[in-house]
Formats: sequence, C-alpha cells, structure tokens
Amino acid sequence: MPNQLNILISAGPTREWIDPVRFISNPSSGRMGYALATNAQKRNYSVTLVSGPVHLQEPKGVHLKQVETAEQMGKAIFENAKHADIVIMCAAVCDHRPLEQWVQKKKKEVFPNEIKLVPTIDILQELGIRKKENQVLVGFAAETENFEENAKIKLKKKNLDWIALNDVSQEGIGFNADYNQITMLSSEGKKVKFEYSAKEVIANKMLDLIIK
Ligand code: PMT
Repeated sequence: MPNQLNILISAGPTREWIDPVRFISNPSSGRMGYALATNAQKRNYSVTLVSGPVHLQEPKGVHLKQVETAEQMGKAIFENAKHADIVIMCAAVCDHRPLEQWVQKKKKEVFPNEIKLVPTIDILQELGIRKKENQVLVGFAAETENFEENAKIKLKKKNLDWIALNDVSQEGIGFNADYNQITMLSSEGKKVKFEYSAKEVIANKMLDLIIK
C-alpha cells in the first residue's frame, strides 16, 4: 500500500423521486460511513466521502460530495474511484427507482395504486468489474437472514476483497443506530468478528484490518 492512501467512502441513503414531494428511500443515517471517513482522515489519508442526504456535520478535512439519487452517487463514485487505493461502499443505495418521475405533484385523487419500479445501477458490482490492480474494494452486506451465506454471495458476485456483514435484523444495530455489529469476510477466506460497539470503534477496527 502507498504511504499517502486515497480512500473513497460512500455513506447514507439515496432518494429515488416519485414526484417533487415523494420519494423511495431507507433509514440509513450515514453514521457508519461518516465514522469511517473521520477515522481515515485522522490517519492522514486523503478521503473522499460521497454522501446521500443525511443530518450529520461535514467531517473536517474530508472531500465531501453530496448526492441524492443512485444515479448521481454512481457518477460521483466512478469519477473518484479511478484515483482510489481503497473504496468502501457503506451507502444504502436504493435497489429500485420509479420508472416514471412526475414533474408536478401527483394529486392524491389520481395517485396510482401501483408504481412501476426499475432496478438502479449496482454501483459496487460495476466497481468490481472496473477494479484497478492493487485497489482494495470493500462492500457491506445488510442482511436480515442467511447472514453469512448472503454476504459470501455478494463478496464473490461483486468481486470484492472484503465484505462487512451487517446484521440489520435487530433494533439498536445497523440502520440509524449509534452502535453496530460487523463480521468481516475476505475473498481469501478470512473471518473477523467485531463485538457490538460504537460505530466509531467499529470504523477504527475495520480500517486496521483493511489497511494491514
Ligand atoms: O447509515 P447508518 O444509519 O449508519 O447505517 C449503516 C448501514 C446499515 C447503512 C451500513 O452499515 C450498511 O450495511 N450499508 C450497506 C447497506 C446496503 O445497501 O446493503 P446491501 O446488502 O443492500 O448492498 C450490498 C452492497 O452493494 C453495499 O455495499 C451497497 O453499498 C452496494 N450497492 C447496493 C445497491 C446498489 N444499487 N448499488 C450498490 O453499490
């Protein structure tokens, strides 16, 4: 690894708009991704943080790029991934967006009972295809069942070096919580479990492991 590492991190949710006042999203607060960015900055690495809409203070000394949709996040990530030694996709990118996006607020009297959804781009999978030599690619797997099995499928399918398996089946860990519980799985078969701790503590342990 070079001394002056370039780290690219994504955080927060995306918003996929239905009309100007309604969107599809998820409860990601951005705390896990911001904790990773803050920790990486403290190690004097060059950090770019691509963030969906969150209510968090901008971390000092970090290049922050704010986006809303999966499409915008993909564009910002692909632009910055070219120069990144490590990419960590912590964002909860919406897997789907409405096929149609109305320009005017849809009146409730004519609001349809069903909205057709189409898949968004899988940013991480695309990063796996474009991965540079020596680039370390880290994804998250937010799971509610078949935890390790599902995470291993993502690790392989997206051509990752590490995946952070995040059990999001219980309250108090994962989405919109101060604490988390992560098991790191590597493409080389390593498995490292971090006990239930504050996201700042987990971020520190994750970076120690990835940068080793
Ligand atoms: O933001 P917090 O409130 O602190 O919560 C943290 C967290 C729970 C959001 C975080 O720890 C986490 O688990 N992030 C990943 C959420 C997720 O979308 O997981 P997934 O299993 O659906 O996606 C797998 C991976 O593919 C993720 O790295 C995701 O960023 C990426 N992905 C997913 C869909 C998509 N269209 N493009 C992607 O790049």
